Amino acid sequence: MGGGSRAEPPGRPGLVSAGASPSHRFEIRPLVPADVPAVAAIEAVAFSDPWPAPAFAALIDQPHVRMRVAVNDTGEVVGYCVVLRVLDEAEVANIASSPIWRRCGIAGRLLDDALVHADANGTASMFLEVRVSNAAAQGLYHSRGFVQVGRRRGYYQHPDEDALVLRRSGPAPIDELVDARSR
Ligand SMILES: CC(C)(COP(=O)(O)OP(=O)(O)OC[C@H]1O[C@@H](n2cnc3c(N)ncnc32)[C@H](O)[C@@H]1OP(=O)(O)O)[C@@H](O)C(=O)NCCC(=O)NCCS
Repeated sequence: MGGGSRAEPPGRPGLVSAGASPSHRFEIRPLVPADVPAVAAIEAVAFSDPWPAPAFAALIDQPHVRMRVAVNDTGEVVGYCVVLRVLDEAEVANIASSPIWRRCGIAGRLLDDALVHADANGTASMFLEVRVSNAAAQGLYHSRGFVQVGRRRGYYQHPDEDALVLRRSGPAPIDELVDARSR
């Protein structure tokens, strides 16, 4: 997904830069039960068919699920990302940032964090679905190296809409790199 890292500006220890301005500092950390109401509140305004709070709560501590929140320097949850992993594939099942914090680099940071983790753990491909009309999310995904590999007709409801299926391949396994170099 090739998002590129950003230098950490001077600031509170443990907080990392998520935007162009040093005033935009966010910590990325695991989602804990106390975060669920704030995450569900962002979800409710971000999606027309939102996950209910219990759906997030039920995924905490599931071994195949990685959930992270972005927290600003006042402790407010301003974004979240949910990744499901099956064998060597993963899916970005959910990602959103708080409307008043958009274009501050939050979702990009969350996605970069997920991709770094996926690459480090041998994930061959990361998939996701996105509404055809969702230009913001498509911009985010394309900026991180996702490419369209399919389209699911009528995948979404409220309103009815097709989904684009995007994939981002992980780094090639070492043996493939060796094979390629010897060819
Ligand atoms: C899509 C969404 C998660 C982006 O969150 P964000 O925190 O604003 O994203 P970032 O600030 O990290 O943006 C990262 C990159 O994504 C792209 N991007 C983000 N918003 C964009 C927009 N409105 N139009 C075009 N590109 C956009 C840009 O490439 C951006 O980099 P840049 O700001 O350096 O140009 C956010 O708009 C959101 O929560 N939408 C509602 C929920 C949703 O649609 N989730 C995705 C479901 S598939």
